[in-house]
Amino acid sequence: MTTAYVNGRYIAQRDAAVHINDRGFQFADAVYEVFAVQDGKLVDVEAHLDRLDRSLSELSIPQPMSSRQALKLVMREVLRRNRIEYGGLYLQVTRGVAPRDFPDPGGLEPTVVMTAWRTQPFDAETAMRGAKVVSAPDIRWKRCDIKTVQLLAGVLAKTDAHARGAAEAWLLDETGFVTEGSASNAWIVTYDNELITRHTDTAILGGITRQTVLKLAAQNGLTYIERPFSLEEAKAAREAFTTSSTMMVRPVVQIDDTAIANGETGAFTRQIIELYGAYMRGGTI
Ligand code: PDD
Repeated sequence: MTTAYVNGRYIAQRDAAVHINDRGFQFADAVYEVFAVQDGKLVDVEAHLDRLDRSLSELSIPQPMSSRQALKLVMREVLRRNRIEYGGLYLQVTRGVAPRDFPDPGGLEPTVVMTAWRTQPFDAETAMRGAKVVSAPDIRWKRCDIKTVQLLAGVLAKTDAHARGAAEAWLLDETGFVTEGSASNAWIVTYDNELITRHTDTAILGGITRQTVLKLAAQNGLTYIERPFSLEEAKAAREAFTTSSTMMVRPVVQIDDTAIANGETGAFTRQIIELYGAYMRGGTI
């Protein structure tokens, strides 16, 4: 039986529910995190919870629990009850329940929901298989740095990407620069062996996998630059990949109809995958 957590209760997932006047349901007035689980441990748990704190504070949603420790206790319990060694954990915090009306009435008790699932353990060989991405206009709002559940633009872009045989959509701003993926951060490697990913600001989500890959690059003497790159530059790049807690480091070997270099996962990306795999095996909870 799959167990979910809803507002203080562990409950069979098929019976788990929130109120129809939950502001998360009515207005996407809610934030979330997705954690990878490897060897029973939540990867980069503190960094994810730091980002959750920031998302909550940007939207003035109060902390849902008395302490981070309490939150982590529940997260661990959800993993334990579902016997998750390898997989993921989803955590959503909404502003709470109130009769439907736009203004925040204040004083609401946040809703907390958690679910967890299993995946195959990280395997570098599988992870090195290249994927196709397609470009799509970035039609999202102007605060993509906040991890809200308002994900409709990403849903539409990724659905269209899948229909076109691609694993992900890379989103383009109005000047033709890649902001990020529909649910991942975008990277290229230049022919000067520089790792490029867009700088963080309000146009993209500061991915935790992105942050970790930058740290691993620095520790291993790889050159990286945080700057925007265009779709044209990406198509002409030596290598490309996309990162998220669920896709981890996914090689990109084709963008739209253009193969990246020889259309195979490159050496630089392979090195990043190896480094990330090793890092995850030492993850924390
Ligand atoms: N999404 N950018 C966007 C728009 C995302 O939705 C995500 C992750 C990322 C990567 O962030 P991180 O490395 O912290 O997972 C970047 C999650 C996985 C999701 O919505 O399922």
